[in-house]
Amino acid sequence: MLAIQGGTPIRTEKYPAWPRVTDADRSILSAVVLEGEMHSGKYRRAFEERFAADCGVKHCFAVANGTVSLELILRAYGIGAGDEVILPPYTFVATLSSIVFAGATPVFADIARGNYLLDPRVLEEKITPRTRAVVAVAVAGCPPMLDELEEICRRHGVRLIVDAAQAVGAAWRDRRICACGDVASISCQNTKNLTCGEGGLITTNDDVLAEKLACILGGGAKDGVYITVGQDHGISEYQAAILTSQYGKLGGEILLREKNAAYLAGRLKELDFVKSASYDPRITCHAFHLYLMRFEREVLAERGITRRQFLKAMNAEGIPVSAGYMPLYTFPCTVSADTVRMIGGHIDVTPLPECQRASYEEGAWLTQNLLLGTRKDIDDIADAMIKVWAHADDVRRL
Ligand SMILES: Cc1ncc(COP(=O)(O)O)c(C=O)c1O
Repeated sequence: MLAIQGGTPIRTEKYPAWPRVTDADRSILSAVVLEGEMHSGKYRRAFEERFAADCGVKHCFAVANGTVSLELILRAYGIGAGDEVILPPYTFVATLSSIVFAGATPVFADIARGNYLLDPRVLEEKITPRTRAVVAVAVAGCPPMLDELEEICRRHGVRLIVDAAQAVGAAWRDRRICACGDVASISCQNTKNLTCGEGGLITTNDDVLAEKLACILGGGAKDGVYITVGQDHGISEYQAAILTSQYGKLGGEILLREKNAAYLAGRLKELDFVKSASYDPRITCHAFHLYLMRFEREVLAERGITRRQFLKAMNAEGIPVSAGYMPLYTFPCTVSADTVRMIGGHIDVTPLPECQRASYEEGAWLTQNLLLGTRKDIDDIADAMIKVWAHADDVRRL
């Protein structure tokens, strides 16, 4: 009997908690406290330098969060009023709000069905003479099709900003995602695979951009003269210290997530109603911030059930699986008076077919901490799916 009907759930234990605070965090933090230097100094600089070197980029800036980082990038490129910036509608709201904060107009381009990432095949038709940048999001920690995106952006003379908020550690053809596009942005917010509670990273090889970012972050000053308006969004020494210690375990966690994700993908192959998100063979490291799946609507319809009913039954079995993002073009903030005022116009909110399908009918995800457990933790996910599917007639009545 299904747990939702009073039966025994497949699982009652919790999945591994996140974030994982370690002894390394405690000792580095005490060192900062004992040294008495709270503001951006040696810990921050050391982390920025180490991260940049590991990613193979010249510059890294550690900032307050992964929204400010995107906004800073746009400002430093001089992108604002009258400019258009293309983004996918299937992402966290910050991808949109950072563009609005910059005063530019967000333009939505649809995602691809297999992976829920910006589809290069539909990108070009959205480029106009006003387009200044494309923000490609590595949803779930999966790099988008970077070769194609870089080629299109180069040909049209627009910037490619990689919103790698969820993708620290990911790699495309052995190139770290932070070294892809013109510039990349990472989030170190509490749920992210590398966290210090709140934080963000900007990485680039572009010296001109880096100089502008440094100026804005330095309060707008260059050589002692305030040449632009700026603000110090840099992280404190405490945050930099935690980033440093957490970074030490990132590599091992990436390998574990990849291993568990591969095992889960293997188990899900047994089931014909759910597909793991496909990923491009050119991806040499997937960060698996999320494990994305697709419940094929036609197959569910044949059994007369919906994704909502299926997920509800899964949750009762003790598996925290959820439906994922809703399209940004449906959010009240996208059409709000504030947004209209900030960008001096309206955002086109025409629904896009693949995003509609992903958001309302097919998408489902598991969060990264579920991939940090044992093989049994993963088996429980697949076993719960098999159980719920076998009881489709009961699910239909939910
Ligand atoms: C795709 C994406 N972009 C941007 C952000 C914003 O990052 P932050 O929460 O650090 O501001 C997030 C965070 O959830 C995200 O997932």
